Amino acid sequence: MSRADLTLLPEWQALQQHCNHLATRHLRELFAADPGRGERLVAAAVGLYFDYSKQRVDDEALRLLRALAEARDLEGRTAAMFRGDRINSTENRAVLHVALRAPRDAHILVDGHDVVPDVHDVLDRMAAFADAVRSGAWKGYTGKPIRNVVSIGIGGSDLGPVMAYEALRDYSRRDMAFRFVSNVDGVDFVEAVRDLDAAETLFIICSKTFTTLETLTNAHAARAWCVEALGSEDAVAKHFVAVSTAAAEVEKFGIDTANMFGFWDWVGGRYSMDSAIGLSTMIAVGPDNFRDMLAGFHAMDEHFRSTPFDTNLPVLMGLIGIWNANFLDAATVAVLPYEQYLKRFPAYLQQLTMESNGKHVTLEGAHVDYATGPIYWGEPGTNGQHSFYQLIHQGTRLVPCDFIGFGQTLQPVPAQGGGDQHDLLIANLIAQGEALAFGKSAEEVRAEGTPEALVPHRSFEGNRPSTTILAERLTPFALGSLVALYEHSVFVQGVIWDIDSFDQWGVELGKQLARTTIAELTATTEPKLAHDSSTNALIRRYRQLRGNNA
Ligand code: F6P
Repeated sequence: MSRADLTLLPEWQALQQHCNHLATRHLRELFAADPGRGERLVAAAVGLYFDYSKQRVDDEALRLLRALAEARDLEGRTAAMFRGDRINSTENRAVLHVALRAPRDAHILVDGHDVVPDVHDVLDRMAAFADAVRSGAWKGYTGKPIRNVVSIGIGGSDLGPVMAYEALRDYSRRDMAFRFVSNVDGVDFVEAVRDLDAAETLFIICSKTFTTLETLTNAHAARAWCVEALGSEDAVAKHFVAVSTAAAEVEKFGIDTANMFGFWDWVGGRYSMDSAIGLSTMIAVGPDNFRDMLAGFHAMDEHFRSTPFDTNLPVLMGLIGIWNANFLDAATVAVLPYEQYLKRFPAYLQQLTMESNGKHVTLEGAHVDYATGPIYWGEPGTNGQHSFYQLIHQGTRLVPCDFIGFGQTLQPVPAQGGGDQHDLLIANLIAQGEALAFGKSAEEVRAEGTPEALVPHRSFEGNRPSTTILAERLTPFALGSLVALYEHSVFVQGVIWDIDSFDQWGVELGKQLARTTIAELTATTEPKLAHDSSTNALIRRYRQLRGNNA
């Protein structure tokens, strides 16, 4: 049987049958029938407490999901990834983000070459550079120390660094400014630098390929801004460093490769925040905190590769995602961190999950006949509660939620009436999971004296699944373990779906068409257009609005 035949597997069919049976059982019944469920359907590892008891699964569903993972050889595929096999088959590359956080004494071979010493060489160079910038030893062109760091990149060369900087802001140098520029919209660059002194500003140009339109456009704008402000091309050497796998392209841009921090083609862009792409993070929080973050990643890697499926956090998270997406037909996952410092975490996860698993063909190129990657989205709690939670509670779509919270806040603020504001925050997190799971029946609403006409409006069906992830405190280590949890859960799902979670061909067509369109938008004479009628009309309309035809 070809691996494409996922839905013909006996394990899949058994899951389908079991789901039909379980669909009739409300979470209220599952909890009532098993008073210990809330302490039984949990797992804990690497400082994360993972409560999946409010997911619509039972022991049989979990057993069948694990059997499905075995049928798809999850263990073998995991070993292949850690071994450095070229599991990114459409790009013929190994997938070794786990090597980025491997300890110095580890050995991981790619084509017979141990990559761990290379990783640590770069980490050591990054640390030396970060220390020099942080201490003021690295001077700008006019002799001033660096006080502003502007990281320019997009996608995986931006979202991780932004997310990590925001998440670890409490550990960061508060006397330095960190800004991130990604969008080709010039507004992004202009707003990022408008109040900065070029003499004190370091640009980190992050691009795996160093050919990405947005990044190179912004890098050229930054270079022009810097050279104009400081009056010399020679300033570039003191104010620009590059992070890339493409030394020749970096040189072409005019950055000395002595000021380049490398990584490797076996690191996918969306899996690169712990490579040199994290240089801004390291300058912000310092090398020791950065290494703590790597230790958190590594601890989750080890947990993932060595723990039996039934207590393995990424496996549980991945398989529950399969259950929700393929058997409960949930098209989306809401990620809801009750931690303001994680405000960019959902945006980061969008690329990680959707660029990885938004695929419609199997590794062999056959069209799938099952749903793959769901839509990830989210906002920090409690803000979302006053916005889109209405739909999650009472809408017609099933939206499984991941709630994320911490036992201790980094910013205690006494609350009026006692306790800390953090207690209010976490009370809300816990209450939301409870409300989603158990709802409020019409009888309960009626018993409160609600007028009959309002009873349907004020009732909550419940039975809406969620997972709650709790950790002690948002430390660099905790952040690393949390990100690795999601990384590996994405991998687990990709293995089940038999897709290449590490390529991203779907971003190419738009890029290619934009190259033609830009020429048409900016042509000085009316271009001959050969698109469809809508595209042609939009191009003409833009040219008019821009004044090109005036
Ligand atoms: O367009 C998508 C993408 O290729 C992402 O996968 C990647 O993270 C991003 O662009 C940036 O690419 P680069 O780091 O090569 O500039």
